[in-house]
Amino acid sequence: MKDKLIIFDTTLRDGEQSPGASMNRDEKVRIARALERLRVDVIEAGFPAASPGDFEAVQAVARTVTDSTVCGLARALDRDIDRAGEALKEAGRPRIHTFIATSPIHMERKLRMSPDQVVERAVAAVKRARRYTDDVEFSPEDAGRSEEDFLCRIIEAVIAAGATTINIPDTVGYSLPHEFGALIARLRERIPNADKAVFSVHCHNDLGLAVANSLAAVLNGARQVECTINGLGERAGNAALEEVVMAVRTRQDVFPCDTGINTREIVPCSKLVSSITGFPVQPNKAIVGANAFAHESGIHQDGVLKHRETYEIMRAEDVGWSANRMVLGKHSGRNAFRTRMKELGIEFESEEALNEAFARFKELADKKHEIFDEDLQALISEQIFEAEAERVKLIALHVCADTGEIPVARVVLKIDGEERTGEAGGSGVVDATFKAVESLLDTGATLLLYSVNNITTGTDAQGEVTVRLEKAGRVVNGQGADTDIVIASAKAYINAVNKLLSPRSRKHPQAADV
Ligand code: KIV
Ligand code: ZN
Repeated sequence: MKDKLIIFDTTLRDGEQSPGASMNRDEKVRIARALERLRVDVIEAGFPAASPGDFEAVQAVARTVTDSTVCGLARALDRDIDRAGEALKEAGRPRIHTFIATSPIHMERKLRMSPDQVVERAVAAVKRARRYTDDVEFSPEDAGRSEEDFLCRIIEAVIAAGATTINIPDTVGYSLPHEFGALIARLRERIPNADKAVFSVHCHNDLGLAVANSLAAVLNGARQVECTINGLGERAGNAALEEVVMAVRTRQDVFPCDTGINTREIVPCSKLVSSITGFPVQPNKAIVGANAFAHESGIHQDGVLKHRETYEIMRAEDVGWSANRMVLGKHSGRNAFRTRMKELGIEFESEEALNEAFARFKELADKKHEIFDEDLQALISEQIFEAEAERVKLIALHVCADTGEIPVARVVLKIDGEERTGEAGGSGVVDATFKAVESLLDTGATLLLYSVNNITTGTDAQGEVTVRLEKAGRVVNGQGADTDIVIASAKAYINAVNKLLSPRSRKHPQAADV
């Protein structure tokens, strides 16, 4: 029997720390559902003390998720731990993850605390967290640059205080695989009570080594890896879940452990995270990039046709690429629609919501011959967005673009129940559309990102647009999908505006005063 490698996903916490990747509560719940379908063991849902919005999001994930452990992050402070305990109250399997920095530079310059004070604080934090749950994780932040003797001392103390998982973060992505692996081996050897806790790693990708460092740690006894979908995360990101999982699975001849991940859900989950955060996946990205299984050279194509394993070490369908198949069409009935949605983890709260989604599906099927899973996900995103669109709705859009003429857009919006029309010119039809919307709303927001992706292939594919807006430290991502990309752009812009206007909109965790 091989050991189990615990997969701890932190897309909703560290992933959200990617500049601009903020997600609202409902988006986090949707991603949490997808992570559960992927069968990740632990979902780190957020940092409850960071803001009321983060607290609510962790609480909502804790209420929704049944199989995975739900984790909340807390600094080694009573108030953070109490907030995390409170947010996780309804979780089936709650975990509190508390941390404090242990490197000389962080202790002296950031915390202004002595090593003795840091140990005392860490022990107190773990004991307090144990009041709420038996599942307590401790991280010595910046472990990669901490002194080893001090790491041994603090880890021994927190295990004695009740920590059940010890996570070793390479916070600044400084370590190299051989030294990080050796560090894990030595810590496990030197700490007398090391066998009372699971050793975990959390690697950042500043030198492009997050996955390599994580795997080196696994080969040296780590049995939990913290990672994110698509490698999202602070700065250069975290170790990519899909790469860690597939490396361990593909090289079972080397690894003494395996994960419980349902790898067929990897690609759908990657697409969902990319669409919600507005972070596109580069085409040559391992496992989830559009070209990851595409063979361009004639020699490779010939080899693969003769015998797939000549050039492929994994099967595309094993990571979920086969999901990109026609699932429903114009003649599909309501039951087939409901069943497929259920398989995608989408349950309707009422018959009315199902009917509305089905009507949208029929409308789309009239415009687009083949409907893929990705189209269904986009359709649901839109229904959720519109339900959220309390204040501004798109009623109509007319654009005019003639060669040599300034493009013009006329938009009709319903703003707080009142229909209004705005018109503007721009450098292109999308620019004119955004200006026409602004002529009515005057939000004063700054456009940080505009991106268009095709959801599936073909000229009749839906375009999915992401618009990122910023105002007074709040960053929101709006999405819109349509077979017409100008309409998709208008929907995305209006979705972002609605999020900015929403009382639930919150400052990005990095901008919050915690
Ligand atoms: O990178 C880091 O050190 C972290 C900790 C909170 C685990 O994210
Ligand atoms: Zn981190």
